[in-house]
Amino acid sequence: MEQIKKFNVYKDKNKKTILYTKNLTPGKSLFDEELIVEKGVEYRAWDVTRSKLAAAIKKGISQIGIKQGDVVLYLGASHGFTPSYVSDIVGANGFVFCIDNAPRVLRDLIFVCQQRTNMAPILADANHPAEYKDLITSEVDVVYQDLAQRNQVDIFLKNCEAYLKRGGFGLLAVKARSIDVSKKPTGIFKQVRKQLEQSTMVVVDYRELAPYEKDHALFVCKKK
Ligand SMILES: C[S@@+](CC[C@H](N)C(=O)[O-])C[C@H]1O[C@@H](n2cnc3c(N)ncnc32)[C@H](O)[C@@H]1O
Repeated sequence: MEQIKKFNVYKDKNKKTILYTKNLTPGKSLFDEELIVEKGVEYRAWDVTRSKLAAAIKKGISQIGIKQGDVVLYLGASHGFTPSYVSDIVGANGFVFCIDNAPRVLRDLIFVCQQRTNMAPILADANHPAEYKDLITSEVDVVYQDLAQRNQVDIFLKNCEAYLKRGGFGLLAVKARSIDVSKKPTGIFKQVRKQLEQSTMVVVDYRELAPYEKDHALFVCKKK
């Protein structure tokens, strides 16, 4: 197992579409993912075709801004798949607040969060950050957003404004077709970059995620 850059993420050169994280809850597989023990450490397989963060790492992104001990506000947590790997990356001293507005996914998300001490599910609309101000009472190190909404950049900026500390990282997964299905994804990504650059966020890296996620990109930003 080889560590990727300084990320708390690993790879096996023989597995092309799988990354690994150190399992925070050894012995427990949450999504039927493979568990591998090497030199006494248990790793969870992370399928890059199921996670935009893993796809961006696989595509060589230079920074993910998420490190051990970080507190992460995760918007669009769904069933908890990628959030569970973020939970591995931040480790026992970090924390992941998992927001989703769909009651139908919350049951699975609650199950995942119950297995871990560093994740909490929150049923709320990310379009209205004030909805969770009583739960997130101090600034976070990272805002991660993956939700397919037409105004996804506005939602991201509102949350970074409300909760992200200065110098903190904002990761925005963009689904071009949710913003405008009639425009080419490359044009949408340019438009998103421009909107980010007019805000308090500086874009530090960016990857288009094909072939793992068609018409998607991940922007890594830092708050000024
Ligand atoms: C593509 S899925 C997220 C997948 C997840 N990030 C992962 O990688 O495992 C998008 C999620 O965003 C949620 N969502 C969409 N609009 C939202 C909003 N305004 N507030 C909170 N969650 C939202 C949806 O309910 C859905 O579960």
